Amino acid sequence: MDTRPVRIRVAGPRLTRGGRAVRQRVFCGELGLPDAVLGWDEDGVHVVAIFDEGPTEHVVGAARLMLDDRATGEQVCVDAHFRGQGVGTGLVASLESEALRRGHLEIEVLADALAVPFYRARGYRTVGDPETVHGRSHQRMRRSLCG
Ligand SMILES: CC(C)(COP(=O)(O)OP(=O)(O)OC[C@H]1O[C@@H](n2cnc3c(N)ncnc32)[C@H](O)[C@@H]1OP(=O)(O)O)[C@@H](O)C(=O)NCCC(=O)NCCS
Repeated sequence: MDTRPVRIRVAGPRLTRGGRAVRQRVFCGELGLPDAVLGWDEDGVHVVAIFDEGPTEHVVGAARLMLDDRATGEQVCVDAHFRGQGVGTGLVASLESEALRRGHLEIEVLADALAVPFYRARGYRTVGDPETVHGRSHQRMRRSLCG
């Protein structure tokens, strides 16, 4: 595990491309999901986790917030070497503050079954029954952003 500091940022276009690359490594390379799961990057607000190596910024985690009548966090992921040091928590906190800043009082995620304990420990509760997406069990979860 790499324990050097990582910072979280709302991404512009260049870092959005880096975010897509890390999402591809984790969701397609590691979890075996099809590329189609990555969707369109023109939509939503993207946040990334950046590890600085001298002047070079490496994107080592990413997530995006889709906004319509609801705020939905999607594709939260962290490169395996950078897990377990709060990067995923920082990405989720950033999605939550972006949602709140845009006037949403709650946020939803469709969590991979493996990540349900991660979200539950961060104040999310399950909503409805599990659903299968690309052959993997997912659970819709929701968290209030008020108080
Ligand atoms: C889930 C994920 C984003 C967490 O990132 P992270 O940087 O390790 O998260 P943090 O260091 O902030 O927190 C680690 C916590 O999550 C738990 N955790 C980490 N990875 C997990 C996983 N794959 N499944 C379940 N729990 C996990 C740890 O046990 C730890 O628990 P605690 O702090 O609540 O006691 C990361 O493991 C990941 O990218 N997983 C693969 C992609 C995925 O499943 N994403 C969720 C899609 S909805």
